[in-house]
Amino acid sequence: MSISNKIGIYPGSFDPITLGHLDIIKRSSELFDTLIVAVLNNRTKNPLFSADDRVKMIESVTSDLNNIKVQTFEGLLVDFAKETGAHILVRGLRATSDFEYELQMAQTNRTMAPQIDTVFLTTDLKYAYLSSSIVKEVASFGGDISHFLPESIIPLVKEKYK
Ligand code: PNS
Repeated sequence: MSISNKIGIYPGSFDPITLGHLDIIKRSSELFDTLIVAVLNNRTKNPLFSADDRVKMIESVTSDLNNIKVQTFEGLLVDFAKETGAHILVRGLRATSDFEYELQMAQTNRTMAPQIDTVFLTTDLKYAYLSSSIVKEVASFGGDISHFLPESIIPLVKEKYK
């Protein structure tokens, strides 16, 4: 399936990018001509990795995909979408617990910018439990994070908790 001449945006914190995120990136890259992975640069959130580091990490694990751009954004996602010319936002849905927050965000965004829609991809069952926060918690206690992250990202996370 392909939505031609379309730019999609996959937004998130990606702190750090997980195998679940990467799965959504790969699958949504097939739906758009260009997929922008939009990394939230939120200074108040106190992330583990800087926005620039998160961009580099995502670029490095998506280098085999030729229609991906990785950019940071600040402020409202719909404003960033308007700047880029994108009309579709992509979000992954893991479980029903995600649904309420995701629906609220999608409806808020659509109220602010009716021309911008959100589409949801269901997360691969293998990654249905996975989140960046859980990975950071496991890493902070020295646990094994090898099942959760792209291989090249694992040492970068371990280094943060040394
Ligand atoms: O990976 P996350 O943290 O679940 O991603 C959340 C994100 C970045 C998509 C969301 O917080 C966001 O869009 N933030 C930008 C501010 C904004 O537009 N807020 C209004 C949407 S309700």
